[in-house]
Amino acid sequence: MNENKYLIICNNESVANQFKSLLASFTNVNTIRYVDVKADFDRLAPDVVFLIQSEEDSGIDLIQYMQSISNDHLLIYLAINTDFETLRSATRAGVSDFFVIPDELNSLSSKMDKIDHMAKEKKSSIEEAAASNINSFKKGRGNIYSFYSGKGGSGRTLVSSTFAQTLKLESTAQVIFIDLNLHYGGSEIFLSIESNRSLADLSPVINELNENHIKNVSEKEKHSKLEVLLSPRDAEIGERVTEEFISTLLRTCRRNYDFVVVDLPSQINEQTYRALEESDRIYYVLNLDTPSLQVLRQVELLFNRLGIDAKERMSLVINKVSKDNEIQPGDVKSLTNYPIEVKIKNDSRALQSFVNKGEIIRKTANEKKLPPFAKDIHKWVISKLG
Ligand SMILES: Nc1ncnc2c1ncn2[C@@H]1O[C@H](COP(=O)(O)OP(=O)(O)OP(=O)(O)O)[C@@H](O)[C@H]1O
Ligand SMILES: [Mg+2]
Repeated sequence: MNENKYLIICNNESVANQFKSLLASFTNVNTIRYVDVKADFDRLAPDVVFLIQSEEDSGIDLIQYMQSISNDHLLIYLAINTDFETLRSATRAGVSDFFVIPDELNSLSSKMDKIDHMAKEKKSSIEEAAASNINSFKKGRGNIYSFYSGKGGSGRTLVSSTFAQTLKLESTAQVIFIDLNLHYGGSEIFLSIESNRSLADLSPVINELNENHIKNVSEKEKHSKLEVLLSPRDAEIGERVTEEFISTLLRTCRRNYDFVVVDLPSQINEQTYRALEESDRIYYVLNLDTPSLQVLRQVELLFNRLGIDAKERMSLVINKVSKDNEIQPGDVKSLTNYPIEVKIKNDSRALQSFVNKGEIIRKTANEKKLPPFAKDIHKWVISKLG
């Protein structure tokens, strides 16, 4: 069985570090601060949460927030005082257990194995329930893959849309593609979809958003039957799309699809920021020239400044690889710490003829004669499907 994912929520670094030693035998432990819960909790999807009370905030609101997102975790409250009201509120809000620290740390320590076991039992009963639902591919929780690049024209839209079509064609998974280039769109061209519907049509129902709303607004790519949420392609409408809309849309998609593939614009605004925060994986589409690498470096700095933790989540999709590239893939390793996920060949000739004819690159599963570009993506997708 998979290891449990632990999450420590704590505002005081030294307390967090002390507490971490208690979890030393577990491999999957994340620590975040109170302010990060809203952005990170849904994505991290922990099995066990330790919420450590801070001097200035009891954390009760956070307990309620986490319970509203999901009930799949075991939530344990670590109080720094024995105030009866606080402990009662915490229990009411839904904590499974509480300990007063530091006095009860020993008692907690002796219960760690039991807690781990309980969380595993809870997880397996949730997985069993999901497996008995025939609409569910695996566990009832999908992955959000975002395609980003600080530099325009690197191939995000073409790579992400082909990636999504391939996933849909080569598996039984439920896949949705979302075009978050709210001003200009772009995916409708590569996917050959003509429609005035767009994701902005979900605005009136965003507060009660469910799978049916999404299916009513999405389009289907003809060949793969990939579901697509198109961009409004309108600056004014685009600007009305709020951060909360983006979070709700992505989280609802994650609950109802196995794979959520997102095409992002280069510009980092609140919407892009939110989508990046929600993503399980960020694929940075990089071309092998000096300006592209310079932009990558700026993006790294910007992510640091904005507090986007991409270390574990971001990898490089090197696109338009050819022997004429100014920089070789091998050189990239010395220039950045992000791992290379895949290399995709430059394939202008084949691609031009597809794009000019408005023709879809992927049409059926197991196609034999794929152009080099599609072949590279095919290989990558198959390796992801395992
Ligand atoms: N591997 C490749 N080989 C050859 N041409 C490619 C490759 N990948 C993308 N292209 C071409 O590069 C151009 C830009 O691609 P695309 O529109 O996908 O980039 P983008 O990063 O989404 O750009 P934008 O900033 O406009 O959103 C297109 O003409 C596309 O056909
Ligand atoms: Mg694009």
